[in-house]
Amino acid sequence: MDTNNPFSIRTTTGRRLSRLRQAEKQALQVVLPKVELSPQNKDVLQKYRERYKKVVLEIGFGRGDFLLKKANQCQDTLFIGVEVFLAGVAKLLRRMVNYDNKSNPLPENILISTNDVRVVLSEIIPEAFIDRVYILFPDPWPKKRHHKRRLLKVEFINMLTKKLKKEGDIIVATDCESYAEEIMNNFQKAGYKCIEHDIQEVFQTKYAIKARQKGHPIYSFRFVRST
Ligand SMILES: C[S@@+](CC[C@H](N)C(=O)[O-])C[C@H]1O[C@@H](n2cnc3c(N)ncnc32)[C@H](O)[C@@H]1O
Repeated sequence: MDTNNPFSIRTTTGRRLSRLRQAEKQALQVVLPKVELSPQNKDVLQKYRERYKKVVLEIGFGRGDFLLKKANQCQDTLFIGVEVFLAGVAKLLRRMVNYDNKSNPLPENILISTNDVRVVLSEIIPEAFIDRVYILFPDPWPKKRHHKRRLLKVEFINMLTKKLKKEGDIIVATDCESYAEEIMNNFQKAGYKCIEHDIQEVFQTKYAIKARQKGHPIYSFRFVRST
């Protein structure tokens, strides 16, 4: 599979680009190249490092509501959003350019990668580059036989650690109790401690809203390195 070609990427939910609406395909063809971060253009990050005070990475941004809101609020921060679900990426792109108001410029402080986050971490992001990581409602894989597919394993957290500044933090939320327990254990094993719970800002993503409608408790954590 050619991971550089958005038309060939399978999403984790199995949806392919051919299933997308015409307007979503158009957003991916026209807007994505203006904001895309890939292994081929990763050198642009040096320029961004000089321009912005902080760098935030959001992993699995879904339709991107949280990413867009934060980027508008924090203009001195570069936001790197990673999402393999192309329909979600397209929805964010369409709102970024605001087709109804052509004078609304594309936010300059957002870069997007449609690569798997493991590729982004291993091939694109420099070491000690990121101030904060958000991982909001990662796919829970609630069935026991699927737990091995969960993203937040110790090995993955170790990859994040290399890219995070020493004083950086990682914010995680889930509504899956067994995943919350695993997340806490794995972060501790990887040398982190949780210094904050009930982080209100993460309660507004699409999945947070769904979870609350279903009456599920939301577990949220802010981790920093313990040493
Ligand atoms: C349950 S959704 C949560 C979306 C959003 N953060 C929210 O709270 O509404 C998890 C998202 O993570 C994305 N995802 C899963 N594995 C990924 C990976 N390896 N790299 C990038 N994105 C991934 C999925 O495509 C999906 O959109």
